[in-house]
Parts: sequence; structure tokens; C-alpha cells
Amino acid sequence: MIDGKRILFSGMQATGTLTLGNYLGALKNWVSLSDEYECFYSVVDLHSITVRQDPAELRKRARNLLTLYIAAGLDPKKNCIYYQSHVSGHAELAWILNCFTYMGELNRMTQFKDKIAKHSDNINAGLYTYPVLMAADILLYQADVVPVGRDQLQHLEITRDIAQRFNGVYGEVFTIPEPYVGKAGARIMSLQDPTKKMSKSDDNLNASIFLMDDRDAIIRKFKRAVTDSEAAVRYRDEQPGIKNLIEIYCACNGRTPEEAEKEFEGRGYGDFKLAVGESVADVLRPVQERFHELIRDKAYIDSVIKENGEKANYYAGKTLRKVQKKVGFPERIR
Ligand code: TRP
Repeated sequence: MIDGKRILFSGMQATGTLTLGNYLGALKNWVSLSDEYECFYSVVDLHSITVRQDPAELRKRARNLLTLYIAAGLDPKKNCIYYQSHVSGHAELAWILNCFTYMGELNRMTQFKDKIAKHSDNINAGLYTYPVLMAADILLYQADVVPVGRDQLQHLEITRDIAQRFNGVYGEVFTIPEPYVGKAGARIMSLQDPTKKMSKSDDNLNASIFLMDDRDAIIRKFKRAVTDSEAAVRYRDEQPGIKNLIEIYCACNGRTPEEAEKEFEGRGYGDFKLAVGESVADVLRPVQERFHELIRDKAYIDSVIKENGEKANYYAGKTLRKVQKKVGFPERIR
């Protein structure tokens, strides 16, 4: 608890460009959480280097992502928005937790298996212990809740196991985190293959809407979205492409699927796709405008980085010192 509020932690990697899926599925919903929770949102750059990165590019993307958090509506006075690499406690706690994690557990991580298949030229130890670093992120802030996508649930599960194991040995050191199950964010699927999640790393550029796409690009991509030959705007599993478009439409304008079905009854897919594209463009425009304003304001962004970095370090340090003492490291002489 911080000031009587429960603690929430989440993070995103600054690799690739954020998609509409990241926005509607995560970011947009985060904004409403800061009243209820003390929120920490990290740009997890330590995680990013498990895959080879261009340094200048990584730095730029990290700053863009941090700025985008704010542009999307997260108030940096209420939410601690910071770079993971500015808080050395993440790496320090990760080392300690490595010694409380079994190789057998890490071997079972499905994301690790996927990643070594994809990056077979660079199967490094960081890729392997990635879930331990993620556990450190969460436990360092004593987070109660963690909003994550389905693909990260296994990592949250191992975080809980590690925390429980540690507490079993040393007493109640860590809060055991739960996945955040509030009003679930929309799960946005690829526009080219509605059975797959929309991804920032899709090779087909028509599959994903990027947060910075302009209106024309957005409308063009929706025009090309894969649908079916039913010629009916209906919200049902048999029409996954249309179902996905309805979800997107509703996430943008607050309508229910039934209302959308009614609105487009008897009308063609062309009309519908245009309407979806327009509502997406309308939702993204203010975020884009705000982003362009903020990214120019170097002094302001720097002040956010500095102040929130200090705040994160403060809370991280409290947990880290406790853990160091528990495992038997000597106290510092002042
Ligand atoms: N692994 C997460 C992802 O790729 C990002 C992440 C790192 C994270 N640390 C975290 C998410 C802690 C939630 C909590 O999406």
C-alpha cells in the first residue's frame, strides 16, 4: 500500500511501434486506474536487450514510448512513468530471484520457446531469465495487481511462485501479485488474419494499425481488412473478421455490438469499414497531436524522467534493502 492505495505495476517494451491493439487493449484503460491504484508504468528497456538492438534506435523508441504514455492520458504526477534502466534495483533483485528460480520452471515458459525459435542466432541467457527480471519488476514495488495480456499470464504465474517460495523461506517479504481483472481491455486481432492477435512485429504492414498512422493509412488498412462473404455486419464467431471490426468500432465509440449491428443492418462492408476507420482515426488524432506537442517539450519530458525515476528508486530501494538483509548481505556502514 502507498498512501492507502493498492499498488499496480505494468510495463511495455519500446521495441516496434505501438499498435491500436496496445492502445485499446492496455494503454487507454490504464488511464482510469490511477484514481484507484498507485500506478507504476515502466518502459522496460532492460528486457529489450534480450534481442539485439540498435542503441540510438532503442534510446529514441524508449523516449517515444514514455512520451506516448503521457500523450495517451497518463498523468505523470499521478502515475510513476519511468525507465527501468534508471532503477538499478530491477537488475539487483533479478539476480537474487535468479537464485530462487528453477531451470525446470524456466524451461516450461512458452514465450521462451517461441523466442528461441525466432532468434535462433542469439539464444542468450537473458532471454532465458527474462521471466525472472519481470518478476523482479513486479515484486520490487510490492505490486498487488498487474494488468497484462494473456500472453504474459504465465510470467505472472511464475512471479507468484517465486514470491511465495521466497516468503516461505524468509517470511512475508513480497506481496503476492494478482493479474488485473477489471473491465477487460479489448483484444484486438490482426486485420489480415483475425485468428491472430494484432502485433507490432507483424511482417504484413496491413495487418496492424500503428498508433502514429495517419488518417489515410488507417482508412486504407481498414478497407483492406479481411472479412468474409456473408455480407452482414453481425457479431458472431463465424465471422471473425467482422467481429474484430465491431470490437474495434465499439471500443472507439462506446457502442455495444448490438447497437453496431443495428446501425449497419442492410448496409455493405464498404460503409462499415469506412466508419470503423474513421472512428479509429478520430480516437487516435488527439493522442497523436498531444504526442507531437510533448516530444518537442524536452525540458518537460526530462523533468518527468527525473522526478519519476527518483520516485521509483525510492520505493524500489525500500524493498531491495529488505531483501538484501533477509538473504544475509551485510548492512551498509554510513
Ligand atoms: N514482458 C512484458 C511484455 O513483453 C513486459 C513487461 C516487463 C511487464 N516487465 C513487466 C509487464 C512487468 C507487466 C509487468 O509485454
